[in-house]
Amino acid sequence: MSKTRILVLGATGQVGKLISDNLKNDSSLELVVATRNKEKIDQLASTYGQAVYIDLDKPQTFAPALKGINRLFLLTGYSVSMLVQSKTVIDAAITAAVEHIVHLGVYSEQWNCTAPHFAWHQMIEVYIKNSPLKWTFLHPNCFLQNLTAFSVISQGKLRWYTTKPCGWIALEDVGESAACILREGPDKHHAREYWFSTESLDVYKLADVLSEVTGTRVTAVPRPPGFFIPDMGSDPKTIDPYFFSVAESCQQIEDGRMSYIGNVRDDVPVLLNRNGLTVRKWADIHKAELIKLATGQSGKDMNWGKSV
Ligand SMILES: NC(=O)c1ccc[n+]([C@@H]2O[C@H](COP(=O)([O-])OP(=O)(O)OC[C@H]3O[C@@H](n4cnc5c(N)ncnc54)[C@H](OP(=O)(O)O)[C@@H]3O)[C@@H](O)[C@H]2O)c1
Repeated sequence: MSKTRILVLGATGQVGKLISDNLKNDSSLELVVATRNKEKIDQLASTYGQAVYIDLDKPQTFAPALKGINRLFLLTGYSVSMLVQSKTVIDAAITAAVEHIVHLGVYSEQWNCTAPHFAWHQMIEVYIKNSPLKWTFLHPNCFLQNLTAFSVISQGKLRWYTTKPCGWIALEDVGESAACILREGPDKHHAREYWFSTESLDVYKLADVLSEVTGTRVTAVPRPPGFFIPDMGSDPKTIDPYFFSVAESCQQIEDGRMSYIGNVRDDVPVLLNRNGLTVRKWADIHKAELIKLATGQSGKDMNWGKSV
């Protein structure tokens, strides 16, 4: 019998890489990773076994990449293009007779949420549910990796765009959980939704944990949600609508409409038979990187404080 072929989208990004790393040594399946950068294909193939070209903005690239694929991990980037990208790749997956799709969404715990990217992910999920594909949905809350990927920590300060508690999840846990679902497949995970929000902390408590772990005083600097776009430091006309939606979400968390973002709801134990990483444990793993950021040795920074 031929092995199950799993295609992971976004393998050069945060979540997709962790999933691929989790699956790459599993000889019971065939892992295929996808990239839109043709020059990365050889290197990805040598790391993961097989790599294919797919550009989510070019539907003509979908059929060759999906040929013979049984299970698809669907991830899109931080862009409103996710809507048409997801719709067209789902259509292509149906045509290619993919059996199971695992979608990375958001923490859309309230069905009638209005923040745009939450609504976009919900619409994609409705589209998947209405298809012949078997499906599993992942609902992670705030990635702890936002603290290291988006330069919110710099020179002893932690900038965040709400004072209210947020639920945090380590991407190590999302990656391992998604790999488990892809490995075990639709018999176990069809029509299941998993929630990832291990610990709830506001920016002040978060700064305290980071200070303790790094041994450097990290001061919480909450910023009004309306400063998020100006703080990005780019011409707003060039900023993807996704980021306006992030600003809107922060506004709704702050004024209470999205207070559920502060909820703890953790399916890591259900999937992995262990607890999710606490913020402190995650920070311990990333201690060197966090010290670098907290002491201002990072090369990247946003337009912090210059917008007003
Ligand atoms: N940050 C959070 O707190 C949070 C919370 C919940 C859910 N999410 C969701 O997480 C997702 C983003 O995950 P992430 O952080 O892993 O993203 P990421 O690190 O930015 O990676 C995005 C991946 O998608 C690939 N990609 C982008 N556009 C593509 C295209 N046109 N064709 C093919 N591949 C393309 C990128 O490839 P390249 O290397 O070529 O760019 C990269 O591999 C979003 O759907 C977001 O809504 C985020």
